[in-house]
Amino acid sequence: MSSQQTSQLVNEIVAKYKNKTAVIGIVGLGYVGLPLAIRYAEEGFKVTGFDIDAEKIAKLKDGVSYIEHIPSEKIKLLNSKGFTATTDNSQIPTVDAIILCVPTPLNKYREPDLSYVLDTTDAIVPHMRKGQVLSLESTTYPGTTDEELKPRVESRGLKVGEDVYLVFSPEREDPGRKDFHTKTTPKVVGGHTPACLAVGTALYSGVIDRVVPVSSTKAAEMTKLLENIHRAVNIGLVNEIKIVCDKMGIDVFEVIDAAATKPFGFVPYYPGPGIGGHCIPIDPFYLTWKAREYGVHTRFIELAGEINGNMPAYVVRKVAKALNEKKKSINGSKVLVLGISYKKNIDDMRESPSVFLMERLRDEGAVIHYADPHVPKFPKMREHNFDLSSVELTPQSVAAYDCIVLATDHDKFDYEMIQKNAQLIIDTRGKYRKTYPNVAKA
Ligand SMILES: NC(=O)c1ccc[n+]([C@@H]2O[C@H](COP(=O)([O-])OP(=O)(O)OC[C@H]3O[C@@H](n4cnc5c(N)ncnc54)[C@H](O)[C@@H]3O)[C@@H](O)[C@H]2O)c1
Repeated sequence: MSSQQTSQLVNEIVAKYKNKTAVIGIVGLGYVGLPLAIRYAEEGFKVTGFDIDAEKIAKLKDGVSYIEHIPSEKIKLLNSKGFTATTDNSQIPTVDAIILCVPTPLNKYREPDLSYVLDTTDAIVPHMRKGQVLSLESTTYPGTTDEELKPRVESRGLKVGEDVYLVFSPEREDPGRKDFHTKTTPKVVGGHTPACLAVGTALYSGVIDRVVPVSSTKAAEMTKLLENIHRAVNIGLVNEIKIVCDKMGIDVFEVIDAAATKPFGFVPYYPGPGIGGHCIPIDPFYLTWKAREYGVHTRFIELAGEINGNMPAYVVRKVAKALNEKKKSINGSKVLVLGISYKKNIDDMRESPSVFLMERLRDEGAVIHYADPHVPKFPKMREHNFDLSSVELTPQSVAAYDCIVLATDHDKFDYEMIQKNAQLIIDTRGKYRKTYPNVAKA
């Protein structure tokens, strides 16, 4: 195809996104894919959602949300705008854009598990047609789009940059956040060729206020990793500072708040019982793995991982110490963990440090219960098993525990009531700033 023909085709495709006649396909309707589907529908695009989870598809068809911070009204609105959801990949030719939002976890050796991305691509490629753009949003190591997706897409004769377009555009979803949302969070896009970048930019410009083009898919992949590594390393740093402060009798939260008054050159990060979620504990190790290919050892990432990963054990030692002062042991004590999602005001349990805490305390012989207004029943998790429901917090129930570990500081907790009635609180979040005889910091 001549370059003139290519640019004419690109112009026609770009126009479809500008006038919103392009049909959007979102593959993987989870924490990332579902809000994106809603965003496109809100702007008047026709959207088709694809997922292998038939239960999710059935719920969407019934107008029911399965993500706490997305109300069912939004799903009903989505459906009223012509949204359809399916498990059937033979519908792929009906869409112009295919946006992949599938999981990218680590395997048991803490190496990248690209199976979801690759299986999904293999399932989609046989149905791809000319003129489509394939955008990968799942966090991954630099090189994934070029090295893994491109050969698969081209395996059936479609040439990337001429027949179809390939981009990487990392998702920046932050569930529960109120000040920024999908539309107002700038979106980075890298294309395999300039034509890919032009189509990718058009794909997102209609729904996101600011699209940030970068020179390659690799640069876009690395951008996302830098963002998450930056957080992991800085959280590791404050967790270490917390341990030092504790030994020196200094309140780390007071120090962070004071440092944050500096109007430049300091960004506050807060310590806690460890790190959780699908991103921060996982994504940095995608780079660690890939960097080995280039003979580079990512020491900051490893060190932050080690410090953050040891925080639940640090909290357990604090629980043991505080109980010991009351002539009690962990073994046989009734312990209530407050907040089991990985961060406040959401229901996401993935990699939650609270669960590691619960397991360690149970292993030490504690009778474990939990209270979390966002997680009424302990969910089925691949590697964790608790047959528990959230305890109702009343003055009587609170008083019945030998120890309460504040792990996730949801706004819905009545902190005053808890403090007034608890025998002992281990505060891992700096929620209780004053000194109380029944509160120990961890
Ligand atoms: N959750 C976040 O806050 C967040 C933020 C930024 C980036 N990300 C990244 O976005 C990606 C997706 O994360 P998520 O949190 O939305 O995951 P999720 O588990 O909530 O959703 C993924 C969805 O993909 C579906 N799926 C799996 N295989 C499929 C296949 N072959 N075909 C169709 N659907 C399939 C699953 O059923 C699930 O519904 C990850 O790479 C993650 O790192 C997540």
